[in-house]
Amino acid sequence: MKTSSVSLLLGLCVLLLSAPTVSAVSLYVSPNHQQFFKGDRYVSLSCVDDGQTADGWTVKRTRGVSTEGCGAAADFRRFNNSFCVLDLSVSSGGSFWCENSSGQKSDEVSIAVSEKQLILEIPALPVNTGSNVTLLCKPRNGSAKKSYFFKDEVKLGDGPEGKLILHNVQQSDEGLYWCSTPIHQSPQSRLKVKEPPPPPPPHTTIMYTPSPSPSPSGNTEPSASSSLRPRSPSVPVLRLFCHLLVFCPYFISTILLLLICCSRK
Ligand SMILES: *[C@@H]1O[C@H](CO)[C@@H](O)[C@H](O)[C@H]1NC(C)=O
Ligand SMILES: *[C@@H]1O[C@H](CO)[C@@H](O)[C@H](O)[C@H]1NC(C)=O
Ligand SMILES: *[C@@H]1O[C@H](CO)[C@@H](O)[C@H](O)[C@H]1NC(C)=O
Ligand SMILES: *[C@@H]1O[C@H](CO)[C@@H](O)[C@H](O)[C@H]1NC(C)=O
Repeated sequence: MKTSSVSLLLGLCVLLLSAPTVSAVSLYVSPNHQQFFKGDRYVSLSCVDDGQTADGWTVKRTRGVSTEGCGAAADFRRFNNSFCVLDLSVSSGGSFWCENSSGQKSDEVSIAVSEKQLILEIPALPVNTGSNVTLLCKPRNGSAKKSYFFKDEVKLGDGPEGKLILHNVQQSDEGLYWCSTPIHQSPQSRLKVKEPPPPPPPHTTIMYTPSPSPSPSGNTEPSASSSLRPRSPSVPVLRLFCHLLVFCPYFISTILLLLICCSRK
């Protein structure tokens, strides 16, 4: 029965060591939309880790075949050490991500800049399962009118004021969305759904950092980031302990010897 507690301890350690790391760098997008009108102002982009600027990571984009880093083009400028701005008066959008000097990449976010009359406002960053997501069908001129919403070629419904709310989204809500009015149609954008971060264990101290809300665009639209996770400080300590236990044969044999001695008495 003593050996069973040792194997339980070792099993627990294997679990802890193989668990994915809590932090992951992701792209922060503000306003958090995938579609904009040409002539709108700016989109701010930055790389965040647990709600804070990720040092050593840069925002990159690809347009067609060319890949460029923040600051490499007139419409894709460095605002300061943390933020990069996409100038919507001249930009045509692209696919954006964060990358560090080892070539490690975050998930990509697509941004479309339309010269047409209608866009669909849909979150650029993945939304949590269980949340409510508002889709807005927005005309270039004037206020939103009755609109029709589509997902993967299927009509979802209509919104009298150009608005449709997806309640309690699930993985099955992922797909390609667009909207239309009797005379115009918006571009298509993909909604991504992710599991919300797990709640922290109740016995640990939560070191929660609120998300930054800077807005070089001067825009008051909602913004979001996909990596705001509470960090539990006790996990690194447990991991260190496990490293010792798993990787120090001396440590293990000492414990085993002690256990054998005790049980013989
Ligand atoms: C790039 O990110 C990966 C994953 O987070 C990390 O292991 C690697 O050390 C980073 N490289 C640099 C140069 O910071
Ligand atoms: C989603 O909308 C429903 C119905 O309006 C509401 O009851 C629920 O609290 C909302 N959920 C969230 C996570 O806001
Ligand atoms: C929107 O407004 C612009 C400038 O006022 C005008 O040129 C354009 O025709 C309008 N478009 C529609 C669909 O009304
Ligand atoms: C960059 O600009 C934003 C918005 O003005 C500001 O909140 C942030 O602190 C700046 N970051 C740095 C590193 O200067």
